[in-house]
Amino acid sequence: MPSIDRRTLLKASALFAGAYSVGLAAASRFPAFASPQPIMLEALRTDAQLAEAAPTKGIMTYGRDGMPPILRAKKGQPFFAQLKNALDEPTTIHWHGVRVPNAMDGVPFLTQPYIYTGDSFDYRFAPPDAGTFWYHPHCNTLEQMGRGMTGLLIVEDPDDPAFDAEIAVNLRDWRLGGDGQFIEQFKPRDAAKSGTYGTLRTVNWQREPQYDAPAGGLARLRLVVTDVTRIFTFKLEGAEAQVIAIDGNPVPQRFALDTLMIGPGQRLDLAVRMPDTEGAAATLIDVRGSTPKTVLTLRATGASLKRAFGDLGPLAANPVAAADLSAAEEIPLALSATAENRKPSGFCGDIGYTFWAINRTPWSGDSPDPTAPLAEMKLGKSYVLNLANPTPHLHPIHLHGMSFTVVSSSIGPVQPFVTDTYLIRPDEKVKLALVADNPGDWVFHCHVIEHQKTGMAGYFRVT
Ligand code: C2O
Ligand code: CU
Repeated sequence: MPSIDRRTLLKASALFAGAYSVGLAAASRFPAFASPQPIMLEALRTDAQLAEAAPTKGIMTYGRDGMPPILRAKKGQPFFAQLKNALDEPTTIHWHGVRVPNAMDGVPFLTQPYIYTGDSFDYRFAPPDAGTFWYHPHCNTLEQMGRGMTGLLIVEDPDDPAFDAEIAVNLRDWRLGGDGQFIEQFKPRDAAKSGTYGTLRTVNWQREPQYDAPAGGLARLRLVVTDVTRIFTFKLEGAEAQVIAIDGNPVPQRFALDTLMIGPGQRLDLAVRMPDTEGAAATLIDVRGSTPKTVLTLRATGASLKRAFGDLGPLAANPVAAADLSAAEEIPLALSATAENRKPSGFCGDIGYTFWAINRTPWSGDSPDPTAPLAEMKLGKSYVLNLANPTPHLHPIHLHGMSFTVVSSSIGPVQPFVTDTYLIRPDEKVKLALVADNPGDWVFHCHVIEHQKTGMAGYFRVT
């Protein structure tokens, strides 16, 4: 790690001390629980066969089985994962979409110190919401995520309707050369536009896999876009599908999937009615971009179960407080472009450019010297984020620690989705409402990681 001067370090530790006490206070609001056996997660480097050419060297992942494990937790029940850092650099884990106490949020400097090589950190929380979530580092994020550290976390609700099959899918690309080895993680000119795309697409670290599900049955497909850049437009051919949840939260009204755009950080839960004939296949495709790409296929097995969407009971709504719109304070937030070439600070994989900003202030989301918060929120009060995207690019904007409801958009009517990541279109203006019910400093950033790392980040302070 490049050297950090003492003054910056002192500033960092002072800031950290402040943030940490907020975190501890937050933790006490959550129920105390008996200690379950920890899930052991070891961050390490390894090789893995991704491309045909050769095993890729220098993969970064959790554990020795290739893809990071798909973790499972139960709504409201204690979850305990112990992260051991066997990398040669610091790391942390952020639990994307899970409303954790601030001290468990995994943002270096803001919520916890670096986890250095050889050190461990205990992540303990009781996830309040059921649904499809995921986990990833929040330090040297572009490289650590780009090299593999993106895993799924499924939070189950004992009252979830029964499906005949469940398939969880980790969607991500890799930037590999023809020899199957990593090439540069980003190109500055692309970071200043829609981001640098991978060269190899994978689904659960495989190329175009096929999964089996009972013929005529109802399969739950949990799609998680963990890629640092790619936005998908999903379409299913050969079977009917209904959208049942977006970003972990059940949709207010289920609807048939026609095409749906889902960006980095986001999740889409589909109920798929499998074809009745044994051997028949349904294909999930990505129709964004000039040539449609097969994502995966689902193959029907056995005699038809003859199920219908109507057999599926509702998913229970998550306990996200509804904002009081009549009393809500509005917070204007404008995404913008800036351009500046500067010396990397050495913190958390700073990549040395500033291309983006929120309210004209660029920040990378994980440096020890954050500027002032984007806004200070009073615990328990309602707010409306008035978000505008005057840039010509899409931005999947993600908020840590709290979920928000999409109230309205300049583009057209919206369902009141509850989410943690909103994919804002070029020239769109959107109103996002929330109750500031989780104390601490919460990062708000674009999940095209190059956009985050080159300035499109800020944070809210809830006290
Ligand atoms: Cu997946 Cu800061 O987030
Ligand atoms: Cu962006």
